[in-house]
Amino acid sequence: MTTREFNTRILKVKPESVVFQPGNDIPIISDKDTEDNLLLAAKELSRTSNPIGFPTETVYGLGASALNDESVRNIYKAKNRPADNPLIVHVASVNQLYRKVLGNERIPDIYQPLIEKFWPGPLTILLPVGSNTPISPLVTANQDTFAVRLPNHAIARALLALSDEPLAAPSANASTRPSPTLASHVEHDLQGKIPYIVDGGSCDVGLESTVVDGLSEPPVLLRPGGISLEEIKKYGGEPWRNTIVAKKVAGKEEPVKTPGMKYRHYSPSATVVLFSHCGDGKNAINQYLERNHVDQNTKIALLRSRFFTEAKNINPLIIVDKCLGTRGLEISHNLFAYLREVDELGVDMILVEGIEDTNEGLAIMNRLSKAAIVQVDGSNYL
Ligand code: TXA
Ligand code: MG
Repeated sequence: MTTREFNTRILKVKPESVVFQPGNDIPIISDKDTEDNLLLAAKELSRTSNPIGFPTETVYGLGASALNDESVRNIYKAKNRPADNPLIVHVASVNQLYRKVLGNERIPDIYQPLIEKFWPGPLTILLPVGSNTPISPLVTANQDTFAVRLPNHAIARALLALSDEPLAAPSANASTRPSPTLASHVEHDLQGKIPYIVDGGSCDVGLESTVVDGLSEPPVLLRPGGISLEEIKKYGGEPWRNTIVAKKVAGKEEPVKTPGMKYRHYSPSATVVLFSHCGDGKNAINQYLERNHVDQNTKIALLRSRFFTEAKNINPLIIVDKCLGTRGLEISHNLFAYLREVDELGVDMILVEGIEDTNEGLAIMNRLSKAAIVQVDGSNYL
């Protein structure tokens, strides 16, 4: 039985009405409703332990104070997230990070070029947990590091500054579901479980932040995301040129550096099949459907990208045909939203055209290979 603890309210805000002056965390807000709604949400964050949904430039987050055990416990509960998968701490500014979290600890030098280039933005860094840290141990799942980022979204930054709380915020989806890029996605997954969803429209990036560990030697890309590996190597300075990519899926016995890697993820209800190197898709898809005895009652959706031909040229069982886009940024932006959209049409199977895993493709293929139950690689048939 599902319990409805809250009558979830959607708080509409206009991101373009929120402006930050250089050097000042507190924004100037020109739209009255936006100001009222942000103050209401910020008050909820600073005075209660209830998590709320809010937009960032990557995906919607489910935020609550990172400094309070009860608040963090409520995040895990609302999402139904396993307690050993740690959360990212979000801050309004480097100043707030020092003032509220780090105290006398310093950010290690290795991160300086990346922070200068990519903050605010979709880059998450690992920092050592100091001995006097005020961060709840539930945020870090008792690891000796914590993850932190400074989001590049006016609404996220305003909430962080107005509440003056560093917020622990995982993506605001129910655990195992695709991350939300619209307020309606959050509502679908978490309605009744949280008091407010701040609706600031669609998220630009569409995939989560890149998580890097500069405390290891060589540095490790733990999760590909909104900033590409190529950009990290280019702008990070000497040590980052040797960055290694963490293994995608951790085996049972392996120590898991990014614990999020061992769980089922990003999954719609329909079966996702991922095709790579399959030309225009026609032969590969028809062979797959035949070999798996997919019958006439099966409803199939196709998400194409660069090379697949339209569904009508492939197979009549495909009743939904959408193009994710051809450029990496476009595909990232659309991926989770389209997976949810076609899933809600009630299809049984979603066939997705993969892309090369360079630049934005690394993060896109990382998410798709976790969402997919089966992967068909055309280069195996050559
Ligand atoms: O773009 C994003 O990062 C979004 C928005 C809301 O900011 N947040 C997000 O959070 O994607 P979440 O919880 O869905 O993913 C956090 C990832 C997980 O893979 C987790 O294992 C990893 O960051 N992580 C967090 N703390 C860590 C730590 N101390 N060491 C290693 N990995 C960590
Ligand atoms: Mg997530």
